Amino acid sequence: MTQITPMVWQGDSVSILDQRKLPSDEVWIETSDYRLVIESIRNMSVRGAPAIGIVGSYGLALAAMELAQSANGDFSDRLHAAAREIRDARPTGANLGWAVGRMLSSVASAQTTEEVVADLLSEAARIHREDIESNLQIGERGAKLLPWGSSPLTHCNTGALATGGHGTALGIIRTAWADGRIERVFATETRPLLQGARLTAWELAREGIPASLIADSASGVLMRRGLVQAVVVGADRIAANGDVANKIGTYNLAVLAKENGIPFYVAAPTGTLDMSLSDGEEIVIEERGEEEVLGYGDMRAAPDGMAAFNPAFDVTPNRYVTAIVTELGVARPPYRRSLAAIMEKNDKVPSPSMGEG
Ligand code: MRU
Repeated sequence: MTQITPMVWQGDSVSILDQRKLPSDEVWIETSDYRLVIESIRNMSVRGAPAIGIVGSYGLALAAMELAQSANGDFSDRLHAAAREIRDARPTGANLGWAVGRMLSSVASAQTTEEVVADLLSEAARIHREDIESNLQIGERGAKLLPWGSSPLTHCNTGALATGGHGTALGIIRTAWADGRIERVFATETRPLLQGARLTAWELAREGIPASLIADSASGVLMRRGLVQAVVVGADRIAANGDVANKIGTYNLAVLAKENGIPFYVAAPTGTLDMSLSDGEEIVIEERGEEEVLGYGDMRAAPDGMAAFNPAFDVTPNRYVTAIVTELGVARPPYRRSLAAIMEKNDKVPSPSMGEG
């Protein structure tokens, strides 16, 4: 089990590893202000659908601690307002709304503000702990899908940094490497924010897993030359029919994988499944600032006056997805049936939408 963790609860504050600064600097943001937690999710100091769910949970616990000390307004109304603000910090990942929904359900029988605070603190810790356990199970289930001696290709960062620890797609790769199944990993750099080049490369190097970074546009040639035996990616939201929203560029990889006869696996905890959405058309895709595409960091690549279009995610239709690996089982087509069967085994499922507008 890797020691990498993107968040640490400190008793009355949360520490968040600032992923914008990796790999050159390891800077931690420590705060007891839930507004700064929201800002850290928005500006992607913390990113990855499960990780923002966990940090959002600690944020809600911090909001309750603060509101319990204040005489202004109704505690419950203000807590629900804070919950909505946290849920809306980023729109595409299901885990944030799912975690906030779980947090609110956990206080249903609390009688006093002290009980609310205590229940929220223990639920946040439970969500964090369970995410790590889920990832280890996803790793076990998914590693078996990778042939011995194979070289998988992965996209974005789905590792310990994107979760409570271990990772989803990168967790499968970690487990498969520990089992001796993997020869080499191909990691896409993942423009515009370079989660692959900065974060996945950092995790793989720390783990000592042989890896090659590729330009996003090199994936086709790798597949065509037979250098890749499986594509393994994470997910931000999965609809009931198995359509998958994930980091921009995932759809391209899925189409190329099918064209080249390569299995395309998606790994995600059940908190990413949004059974309230019939298909991927309904998934809200976050659009981020033009500057992310026009350059990188302080370096501007495009000429002044150039416009950009920056959808942060895309939706891969279910027909390109070979299997979806969750902690409770591996779903295969037809997904409406297989995902529903997995959700029947799940005892902790408030809707990611928190059941309200
Ligand atoms: O914009 P990001 O970096 O938050 O996007 C992350 C992804 O798309 C991941 O693939 C997804 O959240 C799964 S992380 C286990």
